Amino acid sequence: MPIEVESPEQMGYDRIRNNLSESSYTDAFLRDIDMGPGNDLKDLVLAYGSHAGHEGIRELIMKDSYRITKEDILLTVGAAAGLFIIATTLLEKDDELIVVRPNYATNIETPRAIGARINFVDLDFDYGFELDIEKIKSLVTPRTKYISVTHPHNPTGACLSASEIKELAAIAEDNQIRLLVDETYRDMVFEEQLPLAAELSPNIISISSAGSFAATRP
Ligand SMILES: Cc1ncc(COP(=O)(O)O)c(C=O)c1O
Repeated sequence: MPIEVESPEQMGYDRIRNNLSESSYTDAFLRDIDMGPGNDLKDLVLAYGSHAGHEGIRELIMKDSYRITKEDILLTVGAAAGLFIIATTLLEKDDELIVVRPNYATNIETPRAIGARINFVDLDFDYGFELDIEKIKSLVTPRTKYISVTHPHNPTGACLSASEIKELAAIAEDNQIRLLVDETYRDMVFEEQLPLAAELSPNIISISSAGSFAATRP
């Protein structure tokens, strides 16, 4: 995928006629970031911290959940880095994974670079972008390491129901594999928000962004 497709800032905003979506943060100076009284960035010590990420942020994320503890949470530099870590940790050459497509590029290109075999399950406009869970089940082989889904889905906006996530979790548990749920857009649902997917099963890894993190229950 050409970088321009993912990065309008690389292409140059003046060359884009119709920018239908924009997720990048507007350029800013450090001095413009108001962190409140007593939190002047000039006083910030730049040093190594906890390898899993800032304790306070992990505690905040944990508050949103019933079962996940601070130890289950890993802060990463964007969801993209989290997805990269997951692929490079779980996959080796000739391993398999199942990817619901369309999917964020890192979920496809990193496994491809590792030499893993990707079995795609394509979402179809004519079926309301509904997920074919039976097809996913039929694609699991002894070499499958994980199933990659996005909820809410980018770019269709289609959401999985709680029972669909449970069905997917059951497939992961029955086969002793992982279910990766990219929940980057979790806060953008209009209906009732589902719990973090990682709450449901130790086989599920949740990914999210804007204070991006990966969470998994041991
Ligand atoms: C579904 C999905 N996952 C992950 C990402 C990457 O998020 P981040 O910018 O936090 O790396 C994006 C960004 O557009 C996305 O759409």
